[in-house]
Amino acid sequence: MHDNPFRPGFGISPPMLAGRDALLDEWREVFGLGAWSPYRAALVTGMRGVGKTVLLNAVEDAALAHDWTVVHGTLHAGLIDALEHDRLPAMLQEQDPDAVSREVTGLTVSQLGGVRTDVQQRYDREPRLESMLARLVELAEARGAGLLVSLDEVSKASLEQLRRIAIAVQHLMREDRRIAIVAAGVPASIAAALDADGLTFFRRAQQVRLDTLTLPETRAAVAEPVRSRGRTIGEAALERAARASEGYPYLVQSIGARAWEYTPSTSEITTDAVQHAVEVAYAAMGESVIVPALRGLSSRDRDYLLAMAQDDEPASTAVVAERMETTAGNAARQRARLLDGGIIVAPARGLVGFAIPRMREHLREHPHDAQLGMPTKARESFRA
Ligand SMILES: Nc1ncnc2c1ncn2[C@@H]1O[C@H](COP(=O)(O)OP(=O)(O)OP(=O)(O)O)[C@@H](O)[C@H]1O
Ligand SMILES: [Mg+2]
Repeated sequence: MHDNPFRPGFGISPPMLAGRDALLDEWREVFGLGAWSPYRAALVTGMRGVGKTVLLNAVEDAALAHDWTVVHGTLHAGLIDALEHDRLPAMLQEQDPDAVSREVTGLTVSQLGGVRTDVQQRYDREPRLESMLARLVELAEARGAGLLVSLDEVSKASLEQLRRIAIAVQHLMREDRRIAIVAAGVPASIAAALDADGLTFFRRAQQVRLDTLTLPETRAAVAEPVRSRGRTIGEAALERAARASEGYPYLVQSIGARAWEYTPSTSEITTDAVQHAVEVAYAAMGESVIVPALRGLSSRDRDYLLAMAQDDEPASTAVVAERMETTAGNAARQRARLLDGGIIVAPARGLVGFAIPRMREHLREHPHDAQLGMPTKARESFRA
């Protein structure tokens, strides 16, 4: 009947970005008034699937709405190269047609071999990244706006790329130019960035820790898209969907999408549809979220999680250490790393809980996912 409004997956903006309005207002202030705000340099962090990428998308949209120029990049080894040789030259060519005539009079564009050569010509003398960003800021300021640099997926492997961009941005900030930067990554990567040499600039940045959604926000994230597409969802079904997601944005979309498509041609989304959706969405969590999260951990870290999974509630750190047959001091190291990785939370002193919904249940059902060497069900069937 209607297209499914929900957007399960990663990096795809949801139909309703719930619970982030107050936060986005901070950035709107940066883009609106150009007044000084700590959000001019911000680091966004939070566990996998909590909504970092779609928040960055919304920040970029807010910037564009205020006529700012946006340079967006996903950090990887080739980012600086791509920016210097392709993306920034293309943006400059579009915004700065004078670049060619001022520098290379007498030659036409085609004689120089196209966009890249023309624009590079002008920027070759200084470090290119910085001078190109400087020119983009200048052009933006001339129309009363500024430049936003938005970087996703900060990782340990790409700190050098982040450092080079940060240095360029920092220089421009010191000159009081209208430039803002926002970078996002999982907690362990952001922690590595804060520790790294040459990235001290970020230690003064605004830290934004994205949390899961509250129950009212979760309900709105489900109900609003349903209503706006002309369907209904009853109170019991809505409550079930919201609670089952635990406010984890990835699950909100995953459950919403599956509830929507259960009987897409009826007008109401029933509790039956939600029940079915929750089961399917839970089952899909393993491959899409939990296994990828476990993959980045050491086997000791995974042992810690298995020891935690024996309890139905947040586990006591002392009991976890005992189950691991190690000292509290040794277990504290795993605990710190898992907290940093956004895998566990510490709901109270001496307690640890799972940050990602369904991880406990997944580890109980598939302990071999935590202990890669352990025999799987398939292998075990050959031993009988
Ligand atoms: N505030 C929100 N309201 C509703 N849905 C959301 C919200 N934030 C994120 N989502 C949905 O959650 C899913 C995950 O979001 P996103 O890809 O931004 O997470 P992430 O934090 O960037 O994850 P990763 O660490 O893997 O990069 C997407 O389907 C997105 O549409
Ligand atoms: Mg992301």
